[in-house]
Amino acid sequence: MNQVVASDITLKMREFKLFQDLMYSHAGIALSDMKHALVQSRLKRRIRALGMTTYRAYYEYISDKKNADEFQECLNALTTNETYFFRHKNHWDFFCQEIVPDWKRNNRRGMTFRFWSAASSTGEEPYSAAIALYELLPPDSGYRIHVDATDINKDVLSRAAAGVYGEYSVQKMTDLCLKKYFNINGARTEFHVVDQVRRLVQFNSHNLQTPKYGEPYDVIFLRNVMIYFDESSKSTVLRNVTGCLKPGGYLFLGGAETLSACQEHYVYSRPTIYRKVEG
Ligand SMILES: C[S@@+](CC[C@H](N)C(=O)[O-])C[C@H]1O[C@@H](n2cnc3c(N)ncnc32)[C@H](O)[C@@H]1O
Repeated sequence: MNQVVASDITLKMREFKLFQDLMYSHAGIALSDMKHALVQSRLKRRIRALGMTTYRAYYEYISDKKNADEFQECLNALTTNETYFFRHKNHWDFFCQEIVPDWKRNNRRGMTFRFWSAASSTGEEPYSAAIALYELLPPDSGYRIHVDATDINKDVLSRAAAGVYGEYSVQKMTDLCLKKYFNINGARTEFHVVDQVRRLVQFNSHNLQTPKYGEPYDVIFLRNVMIYFDESSKSTVLRNVTGCLKPGGYLFLGGAETLSACQEHYVYSRPTIYRKVEG
């Protein structure tokens, strides 16, 4: 019996190279050779689902424009989406204790605080922002809140929009905060973000390698995504994101990320936090 089953298929190095090039050209993601086993196992599920027998056949299938949905599935399978509520506590302390109070002093009632979570993954980061802003600029304060959340992976965005989380995601939250901003099931295994927070956040797909248009933001979180890019993709992303930030606004990066490009537009504020220069 020589029937090929998906579990027997291996990703040859020349096939792996095709997926490396594809991810890099489309999303700026530089998959190192160390990711070979990960790519093989994540794509195997898709290949199995489609009843195919080689990675090459799958690559050709997703390269055909009429299979754009499967191309998106491939992209979804190859992104890394680790996140949780209030990740990097020092960022949130600075945001809540300095940035928002300062913004409030300098803006009249009726004004809108605009926040962008630029690689939002499953939504924990933008909902954390919405919760913090709801506390600091409650509806009766007269201020408004707008949180945009974007990601290239449409699968994580639909999970984010549902606003339902497990224990891992809420590990850093206090009981008080959980009680106030989540509906929790009896077994305490499901945490549903309450509607007044959910409605503050707009989820949309967006590739950071392309410019984003629209009203600029007071604060942008661009955290734990540039680690997947090489220098050239990082520069493109930083240029695109810098164009979306108000002068005087703040850019937050992940713990292992630096401002390699666009440094002339920022002053250092705190580790991994930068302020865009005025004018
Ligand atoms: C590790 S998560 C970061 C989540 C959150 N920002 C945090 O720090 O907890 C990285 C996210 O970046 C997204 N991503 C990767 N490349 C992207 C691109 N070119 N444009 C937009 N999002 C991208 C992935 O889909 C993934 O959800």
